[in-house]
Formats: sequence, structure tokens, C-alpha cells
Amino acid sequence: MNSNKITIAIDGYSSSGKSTMAKQLAKNIGYRYIDSGAMYRAVTLYGMKNGIVSPEGNVNIPTLIKILPEISIDFHLDGDKQYTMLNGENVENEIRTLQVSNCVSPVAAIPEVRHALVRMQREMGKSKGIVMDGRDIGTVVFPDAEMKVFCDASAEKRAERRYKELTDKGENVTYEDVLANVVKRDHIDETRDESPLRCAQDAVRLDNSGMTIEEQNKWLIDLFHKITNQK
Ligand code: CDP
Repeated sequence: MNSNKITIAIDGYSSSGKSTMAKQLAKNIGYRYIDSGAMYRAVTLYGMKNGIVSPEGNVNIPTLIKILPEISIDFHLDGDKQYTMLNGENVENEIRTLQVSNCVSPVAAIPEVRHALVRMQREMGKSKGIVMDGRDIGTVVFPDAEMKVFCDASAEKRAERRYKELTDKGENVTYEDVLANVVKRDHIDETRDESPLRCAQDAVRLDNSGMTIEEQNKWLIDLFHKITNQK
């Protein structure tokens, strides 16, 4: 029975810690977690592999739109880990590289790409009991979500966290490159015509610049209990 389950939308700026807290919340409360950013990253990777998206982020838009139906995206759960599957292949590591980060925002600004992914996201969330993170989840994908959070932190703090994440994985990147990517993606995401990054009117805002992962996880689960106890 899903009757008591709600829909949880967590939006915010790039590398603002959304995925970390969304994933942990979903695990704690037994909900499904969907990383909508991974879906935009998977489409971008597919375009890069097929010469439709250049390493500089130039997109052959008509061709990308044409091949959209060839792309299937799914998530595979293995214990605590969740892998993004692109046409049956595990692309979890590949989609997180700075090369993909540098190309994803122009791809995510294409209305046809957004419409296709939003359709899939709504399908995934139709039975509720879902935590989805992204840029437009509380505004466009699930405007009726019972719980909405909008995350932010200073650009420097966000770049620091992402730099550590990437270098821990062995990626050869500089802090300056990561900061430039964070700032550029924020700009493209906020200024695109189609469903730009916005805080939903009824979202609770969180600036987690000074918070540890444990503190933000606790903040989120407390909010969940507050909202579900009021229902
Ligand atoms: O985790 P990080 O903040 O690096 O970003 P992400 O959630 O993996 O999203 C990657 C990119 O996909 C964003 O910079 C947006 O351009 C796009 N995106 C979007 O447009 N709408 C969403 N719902 C999720 C991501």
C-alpha cells in the first residue's frame, strides 16, 4: 500500500549535496531514489559517444532529437549502490567525469530532451514513495510534491566538495576547472528558457555551506518527519 507515501523533490545548484542527502533519506525511509541529473548526464554521454555532442559542448540538436528514442535509461540497485544504466550498460562512472559535466548543461537546455526525460521521471514517480533530486523536480516534474527542498551553498564550497569527490576517484582535474564548471553550469541552468533552475515557491530552502553530511542528513529527516506528522 502506497497510500501514506509522499513525493519528495530536492532541487538545487550543482554540487550542492542534493544527491548525497536525497540518497540517504530514501534509504532511511525505504523510498526509491532517482537522480534525475544522472539521466541528463546519460543522454549527454550517449551524444558524446556518437559524435553528436562535441567535447566543447556543441550539440547537433536535430540529430540528438532524432536519436532520443534509441536511448533507454534505468537504475540498477546493488545493495547500497545504485548504478545508472544506459541501454543496458553500467555508465555510473563515465557520466560523473568532468568531460560530461562540461557538456551536460547545453544538452539539458534542449526542450525535446527535457520533455522526454520528464515523461520518464513522472512515470517512475507515479506510485509516490520516491525521492527525486534535480533542478526542476519541485517546479515542473512534481509540482504537487508534498515535500520540497531547495539546496544551495557557496560556489567555492560546492567546487571544493566536487573537487575532492573527483580526485578521490583518481580523476586528474584542478580545483579551478571544477569551480569554472560549477559556475558555468549554474548560469546555463538558471538562464535557459525551458524549465530553468528556480526555487519552487513552496520549497524549504537550505544553505548547507557550513553543514557536515551528518548535519544535513539529520536536517532532512527531521523535515520529513515534521511534514508527514502533519499530514
Ligand atoms: O550533481 P551535480 O550537481 O553535478 O549535477 P547533476 O544533478 O548530476 O545534474 C547535471 C546537470 O543536468 C545539471 O547541471 C543540469 O544542467 C542538468 N539537470 C537538469 O537540467 N534538470 C534536472 N532535473 C537535473 C539535472
